[in-house]
Amino acid sequence: MDYRKVQEPILPLLAAAEKVLARKIGSPVGLISELGRCTPVAKGKKIRAAFFFLLARLNGAHDEGLPALGAAIEMLHLSSLVHDDIVDHSTRRRGERTPNHHFGDTLSVLWGDFLFITSIRMLTRDGHRDAVDMLAEASRQMIEGQILEYENNFNYRLGTRTYYDIIRKKTASLFSGIAALAAGLPGADARRVPGFRRFGQDFGMIFQISDDLLDIFSERSGKGRFQDLKEGKVTLPYILLIKGGALPLIRACERSGPEPLLERCRSLDVQGRSLAVIDRYHRRCRAFLRSFPPSPCRDSLESLLEFIRYREY
Ligand code: IPE
Ligand code: IPE
Ligand code: MG
Ligand code: MG
Ligand code: MG
Repeated sequence: MDYRKVQEPILPLLAAAEKVLARKIGSPVGLISELGRCTPVAKGKKIRAAFFFLLARLNGAHDEGLPALGAAIEMLHLSSLVHDDIVDHSTRRRGERTPNHHFGDTLSVLWGDFLFITSIRMLTRDGHRDAVDMLAEASRQMIEGQILEYENNFNYRLGTRTYYDIIRKKTASLFSGIAALAAGLPGADARRVPGFRRFGQDFGMIFQISDDLLDIFSERSGKGRFQDLKEGKVTLPYILLIKGGALPLIRACERSGPEPLLERCRSLDVQGRSLAVIDRYHRRCRAFLRSFPPSPCRDSLESLLEFIRYREY
């Protein structure tokens, strides 16, 4: 699935949002430009902005003001990535060294804060009260999810219920908030807000499960491979491995290298079984989209759904 096809109907909106982002990320403080180079706007997929634009159009909202909102959403996402890389001790993202790897944790905490508050400031200045509420609530849940995840690092007895709880909070909450915001914009049909919220949550669950697969199976994610393993994050593929008796292999990975573990992934069909979980959410998402009349935006959202189901970056 070619991601560029997804972006086609909203290219002007994405370009406008990227311009706002690039401008807002700057500052007269020279060090901030250097930090910005470790957080390259152009290399991110900007899926959250695309998701927002497509859903807004799907529900009949006007285009006016969308780029600024999309830029604020991506800015908040960037701040969460900067803080996430500190928490996860990650050294690579978007094919570059992470800010924490380059500048250390102290400066990176401040950089993440700067991006976070910039996203909120972009919205308060324009009077987007609903968007501020949404980003604040989503951030609260994201942080809750990150803390719940931290509490369970190296907990090899973690069950799927807690895993789903973690990813619903840390990742799906933002997608769900974005979808609800898009559905409630001027010109949109507000009766559809609960349906959109649910769709965003299902979409976010797929997004994080596929990210957890990328960590093991992708060589071109632009991030360090086996980062979750090193940090003791017990994600769905690891839960399946542990249920299949592979805990000794997980523990031995640092000494033996990942090949025996990858071999066990193949024999237990970890990828296929994770995709089967993804497909439960995927079916609901497709049914939601099919409840709308055909349009280029609906086609794009269907393509986006295919892209996140099985992706390499
Ligand atoms: C990464 O998000 C963080 C997760 C929630 C998995 P993306 O994969 O959207 O990151 P960028 O913005 O494209 O770098
Ligand atoms: C991050 O999850 C979720 C966020 C809210 C940022 P991950 O830790 O798996 O994200 P990556 O893989 O580092 O992008
Ligand atoms: Mg991470
Ligand atoms: Mg993380
Ligand atoms: Mg990850």
